[in-house]
Amino acid sequence: MKYTSRGIQIPYSKAEIILTILRKHRIINVDLEFVRKEKTLVIPVNTTDDNLRSLLESAAIDFDYSVDVFAFIEKEKQPKNLFEAVNNSIPEHLQEHIPKAYDIVGDIVIIDIPEEILSFKFKFGEALLSLFPSIKTVYRKASTVSGELRIREIEYLSGEKKCVTVHTEHEIKIVVNVCEAYFSPRLGHEHKRVADKCKEGEIIIDLFTGVGSFPLHIAKSKAITVHAIDINKEALKCLEKSIKNNNPKGMIIPTHGDSRRVIDTLPKADRIIMNLPGRAHEYIDVACNIARPGSIIYFYQFVSDSEPLEEMKKILEEKLNEQNWIIEEIISFEKIRESAPREIHACLEVSVIPQHK
Ligand SMILES: C[S@@+](CC[C@H](N)C(=O)[O-])C[C@H]1O[C@@H](n2cnc3c(N)ncnc32)[C@H](O)[C@@H]1O
Repeated sequence: MKYTSRGIQIPYSKAEIILTILRKHRIINVDLEFVRKEKTLVIPVNTTDDNLRSLLESAAIDFDYSVDVFAFIEKEKQPKNLFEAVNNSIPEHLQEHIPKAYDIVGDIVIIDIPEEILSFKFKFGEALLSLFPSIKTVYRKASTVSGELRIREIEYLSGEKKCVTVHTEHEIKIVVNVCEAYFSPRLGHEHKRVADKCKEGEIIIDLFTGVGSFPLHIAKSKAITVHAIDINKEALKCLEKSIKNNNPKGMIIPTHGDSRRVIDTLPKADRIIMNLPGRAHEYIDVACNIARPGSIIYFYQFVSDSEPLEEMKKILEEKLNEQNWIIEEIISFEKIRESAPREIHACLEVSVIPQHK
């Protein structure tokens, strides 16, 4: 589209000097394209003639220029966010449902599109690809996380048809199969927080490792042995590739199977990670089997946001008592993220000891 606007015409060879002055005073009209006319350049400006002339006089410009009204072409507008990228395709009364957030896993985006605007799903696919040049594939969440393997159905929307990507968390490259293994890009801080607590020479057991994010963080630069267990073979295949890619200083030992069934093959642990929220309490007997007095447990749960620490402590204490173990010390309590309205995913870190009778 053509527009007329005030502009300044200068010799092309002087463009840099003038642009520096105009930018400093923020008077370039950034919505319009510059015009090149033979050996001159016409720059659209947002100011009055008088203001522009006095500015150029005070800058002691010693070459010819002219200030006038010129014809310009409007710049093609690039959307700044997802809303701007799709709102032209979605009726106004439905635009309130356009999601503000989405998960980026490596070069794959996974978006949750509400039912009300699901018929526009492919628009989202194209929009996300054009918003982020580094993104190769877009999926949408087609179910909640469920089942023993904690995976969700995802529906392909656009881009390259692939499931495997490499996600970077604090410089660690994690291979993720988004179609066949659990992974949340929202746990990066938690993986690092726990890893930072682990000490050289320790033995760590991650009972529900998924693609092995905790072990990769923990073993990255410390001589620590981490046993990484998961019932999902695909998740462990990812971990095996990540171990090769990251060349960790410590040792990661992936073990496929049900944690309950493989514990006989494991040593006693200094720290036990139990990130299976919703079901971790069912495995406290397993944790007690591989604990020694003073071992530290990272116990994850979904709890209500009203008194989360008390709720978690109660669940854990009850299960420990059934095994004749008790909490020796509460070391930390971390709220990780909101998992549902009025519900949080949290971690209680405790040291445990056997109960003296
Ligand atoms: C919440 S996800 C893992 C999260 C992972 N620790 C992380 O931080 O990214 C839970 C994992 O537990 C695994 N799982 C579920 N039941 C299991 C069991 N009985 N034994 C071993 N792994 C199990 C699932 O396959 C899934 O990968």
